[in-house]
Amino acid sequence: MLYIGVDLGTSAVKLLLMDSQGKIVNVVSKEYPLYFPEPGWSEQNPEDWFRQTIAGIRELLEKADKSQVAGISFGGQMHGLVILDREDKVIRPAILWNDGRTAEETEYLNTVVGKEKLSEYTANIAFAGFTAPKLLWLKKHEPDHFSRIAKIMLPKDYIAYRLSGIHCTDVSDASGTLLFDVKNRRWSGEMCDICGIRMEQLPKCHESYEKVGTILPEIAAQLRIPETTVVAAGAGDNAAAAVGTGTVGNNMCNISLGTSGTIFISSADFGVDRFNALHSFAHADGHYHLMGCMLSAASCNKWWMDEIIGTKDYAGEQSLIERLGENHVYFLPYLMGERSPHNDPNARAVFLGMTMDTTRADMTQAVLEGVAFGLRDSLEVAKSLGIDLKRTKICGGGAKSLLWKRIIANVLNLKVDVIESEEGPAMGGAMLAAVACGEYGSVEEIASKVVKIVDTVEPDPILAKKYNRRYEEFRKIYPACRGLFDDMSKNN
Ligand code: XUL
Repeated sequence: MLYIGVDLGTSAVKLLLMDSQGKIVNVVSKEYPLYFPEPGWSEQNPEDWFRQTIAGIRELLEKADKSQVAGISFGGQMHGLVILDREDKVIRPAILWNDGRTAEETEYLNTVVGKEKLSEYTANIAFAGFTAPKLLWLKKHEPDHFSRIAKIMLPKDYIAYRLSGIHCTDVSDASGTLLFDVKNRRWSGEMCDICGIRMEQLPKCHESYEKVGTILPEIAAQLRIPETTVVAAGAGDNAAAAVGTGTVGNNMCNISLGTSGTIFISSADFGVDRFNALHSFAHADGHYHLMGCMLSAASCNKWWMDEIIGTKDYAGEQSLIERLGENHVYFLPYLMGERSPHNDPNARAVFLGMTMDTTRADMTQAVLEGVAFGLRDSLEVAKSLGIDLKRTKICGGGAKSLLWKRIIANVLNLKVDVIESEEGPAMGGAMLAAVACGEYGSVEEIASKVVKIVDTVEPDPILAKKYNRRYEEFRKIYPACRGLFDDMSKNN
């Protein structure tokens, strides 16, 4: 049998075809535009997602035996607000996970409703970018759109709807809405009241590995796949990536270096970060996880390479980097504000420490290191909660760079296990489809049979020590700049 995994990302949709043994048969990627209509805003058009997903599936299956396709599922960019009217038409462009327009609404939720209440109802506090503050923003700034909402969806759920005709979501993605009672894995009535929405405006919530329906006959005919093709709920991209890298069960770690950067710690039991820096979400394996999320990770490197230096030769630029642990230049990677651990949409990127002998390679190195230091910030919170990690998996576009993996291994002082494929969320999506079709008994079973570690990047004790000193300097930069960021946001 064949299973399709759809990774609905921020810059592109990635489609992956996997066979029953977990072997990757084909991978295809299709880009779509990302709009920044105002500074700090970030939007996409759901129709672009769907069009490119269909085009991608066609290409993916070109040489495959289409009659063997049994299931399809998803890993999707989280938190995005997609709203449909009574005719199931999209009301306005989706407001994405890295959109920072909701500073006021986030502040209202955290201070007026209060972090304690939010944490009691949802296991989380409000972060700009989560779905609930966006609904409050919409209610205030676009009341006409707000009043027309019949269904509230997350990005990948819109694709599931267009493929199956069913409004659905899954527990991991629902966790990032701040409308979801994570502990009990159900929508929160209290949060619906706070946001002024009705429970029936929310889609039915499934476990990630559950079948929600089958593909619509007209889509099956269009793609020439069986009408019996199962559509499974899927997961938020980080939970799907965790499945794809075998980060399931208790106390396993995965780092994703995509547009965002995340550190994901799986947990058999429910738990909340008492410092409210890490998210406490349901996992796609039926359990839970904690997660720190940086809003800009591989996107910092992409911005530096494509927009500033003006090159596509990432490997060539990185080959000029010679000495790790000795860079005097620091980069604060907050190009879109920052989520974990600072929760500050006004934060901005900073280069610091240049002298006349600073080279272009030092600056490139600072960008890669800045992202690693940002991940370490979240790791430090996890440590303070008593979580002891020795190793992590890694995935995402940035994980293709051996140099970046070395930097991460040494900055975080963790062994970095490299998986056969870096296709985290797309692979996880295909694996969830295989479980929904009954090919495997559980997410943990397929992960143990299919995911293979091919290499481990070990930290070097001397280098890790050097980086420890650098990190102590790095962590002082944000507190020193915070007041300035606030002033700048008021003046602009
Ligand atoms: C997670 C988050 C990002 C997006 C990126 O909380 O906001 O990782 O899911 O697609």
